[in-house]
Amino acid sequence: MSRSSGDWLPVTAGESGAAVFRSADGTRYAKRVAAEAAGLAAERDRTAWLSEHGIPGPRVLDWHSGDAGARLVTSAVPGVPADQVSAADLRTAWDRIADAVRALHEVPVRQCPFRRDLDSAVALARDVVARGAVHPEFLPVEQQGTPAPELMARLLPQVAQRRAEAAADTVVCHGDLCLPNIVLDPRTLDVSGFIDLGRLGTADRHADLALLLANARETWPDEERARQADAAFAERYGVAVDSDRLRFYLHLDPLTWGLDDVPGEEEACR
Ligand SMILES: Nc1ncnc2c1ncn2[C@@H]1O[C@H](COP(=O)(O)OP(=O)(O)O)[C@@H](O)[C@H]1O
Ligand SMILES: [Mg+2]
Repeated sequence: MSRSSGDWLPVTAGESGAAVFRSADGTRYAKRVAAEAAGLAAERDRTAWLSEHGIPGPRVLDWHSGDAGARLVTSAVPGVPADQVSAADLRTAWDRIADAVRALHEVPVRQCPFRRDLDSAVALARDVVARGAVHPEFLPVEQQGTPAPELMARLLPQVAQRRAEAAADTVVCHGDLCLPNIVLDPRTLDVSGFIDLGRLGTADRHADLALLLANARETWPDEERARQADAAFAERYGVAVDSDRLRFYLHLDPLTWGLDDVPGEEEACR
């Protein structure tokens, strides 16, 4: 960090391999990786791109890469991550989240230079599985006792069909659309913006919806309320949601995060 930037405080809520820090005055975030800067450079490029396309999110303020790794400084999206509000507040914000996701998914695909096609996601998952690097905690509980190669083998027969569906229904996806990556204004419960944009790219809308609906299920108090929320989302979002496609993308996603993408000990942000 530059000498003028003051103190940086570690943020522990992140789920990727990067260490995240917040500036003492709360106006900026820094993400730092010790090696392999390509992923963070991808996040930089996608963050800059999205901020030019009318979707609320961080601005890129600073970038540095060198022998010791890389760091990306972005403006803070003010508010609180959507996984940290009560079920009642999430329900109030739910229509606005649906509106924000729809607006993101309505950005014209031809304007987006970033692809997140199914074949690359499957290739990434195959590699993570082959390396034995699947992070068990990212798997749904009922899959945690199943060997990852078997989980992969269950998905592969569906790929041709999912590829055809995606070709007919591609949108600009966030790529990691879980509640911690949606920031809400805690007073109005409006969506302040999307963050953590390193996997943004064109893909089947169900890739985003699968993560969002499954993650929100952890906030809803019971199955009945979860079903109501899913229905309310689909109505507001305005496109019918296919549960088989949701399940496929929900099960593919945890296989795409390698163990070495997950944080080690917090490092100082220099
Ligand atoms: N620009 C930002 N504005 C607001 N909060 C942020 C920002 N960047 C990071 N955060 C906070 O830090 C957490 C981790 O950052 P994130 O970019 O999601 O990292 P990870 O890739 O580790 O998930 C987020 O869930 C959020 O609470
Ligand atoms: Mg995140």
